[in-house]
Amino acid sequence: MRCSSLAGALALAASGVDALLRFSCSQLVVERLDPLVNPGSAPSPHLHQIVGGNAFNISMDPKTPPPQIATCTTCTFAEDFSNYWTAVLYFRARNGSYHRVPQKPNVGFEQANGGMTIYYTPYVGSTKSNVTAFQPGFRMLVGQQGFRTKAQASQFRQLTYTCLKDPMTRSGETMDFPTAPCKAGIMANVRFPTCWDGKNLDSPDHMSHVAYPASGTFETNGPCPATHPVKIPQLFYEVVWDTTKFNDKALWSADGSQPFVWSQGDATGFGTHGDYVFGWKDNALQKAMDANCASCPQLKTQTIAVGNKCSRESQVKEPFDGWLDTLPGGAMAGMKAA
Ligand SMILES: *[C@@H]1O[C@H](CO)[C@@H](O)[C@H](O)[C@H]1NC(C)=O
Ligand SMILES: *[C@@H]1O[C@H](CO)[C@@H](O)[C@H](O)[C@H]1NC(C)=O
Ligand SMILES: *[C@@H]1O[C@H](CO)[C@@H](O)[C@H](O)[C@H]1NC(C)=O
Repeated sequence: MRCSSLAGALALAASGVDALLRFSCSQLVVERLDPLVNPGSAPSPHLHQIVGGNAFNISMDPKTPPPQIATCTTCTFAEDFSNYWTAVLYFRARNGSYHRVPQKPNVGFEQANGGMTIYYTPYVGSTKSNVTAFQPGFRMLVGQQGFRTKAQASQFRQLTYTCLKDPMTRSGETMDFPTAPCKAGIMANVRFPTCWDGKNLDSPDHMSHVAYPASGTFETNGPCPATHPVKIPQLFYEVVWDTTKFNDKALWSADGSQPFVWSQGDATGFGTHGDYVFGWKDNALQKAMDANCASCPQLKTQTIAVGNKCSRESQVKEPFDGWLDTLPGGAMAGMKAA
């Protein structure tokens, strides 16, 4: 598990050794769009929750990167117009109806209106390793929405869940959904690969241009493979799903199986995935990575309250809240009838 090294990194940050960029991005919009995997499709097959710059759109041309279009961002680093998104978590009741699970911010990011906590880690511990920031037009995907088994999901190294006993729980990550109620919610952890081929801003599967270290891990400073020699920052999303009002097992299906399902119809959790479209202004991210700064006075910041104001209406008009007979887009959860 990676949790020990993450805890180490957090401890370093807390002890005043600047190591990683960690910040809050409020929710921009929830809608069935996916400009990376399904550009031009409105709606896309399943629902997403999106944070970042307001250039997020049905299609996003890599030749006009977000800083050229966006007028605001939901992130506290005001020069970050990137977009970060994941699927949306639903609760499936005993009678087969679905209800969207609300998100809640991490401790310290209380006003963030749900959203996500985003990390860019340039190196871990005391071993300095130079990273090259993402380039304009860069985008990537991690995870496969269609995966339903551990064997499949093992292709990815660091897509996990933390069953929050309290908001600060950071141990006991699992690759599938927690099987018992989680007192303080479920945190989805999405860590991207950290090596780049140095050439392609994207690839047909949105993944082959990046790779994991050839040996060891990013956290142990493992070397990148020859095919993907350029070390990039580790991008990491934490999304806290506030499952607490669905914790009463009397609401769960009669066989006691866990009731949560991703918006693409995944009741296993192995289909977790995250999407990224780079959109930092100029070389702001590279500057921050070079400085190994956490609070980064050299970057422009805005308050969470200002970030919260950058939101917009869904372009795809459809219900996704309240009790629904089907998931938006109609994906089947593949669960036994209750
Ligand atoms: C989104 O794309 C549409 C065309 O598909 C365009 O009319 C609109 O201005 C775009 N919005 C933003 C915020 O870029
Ligand atoms: C299904 O169950 C939920 C939770 O008990 C309830 O609120 C909802 O109204 C029910 N839906 C239908 C269609 O009966
Ligand atoms: C990082 O880059 C600097 C400047 O390019 C170089 O001098 C240094 O040796 C590099 N450090 C590592 C650990 O690669």
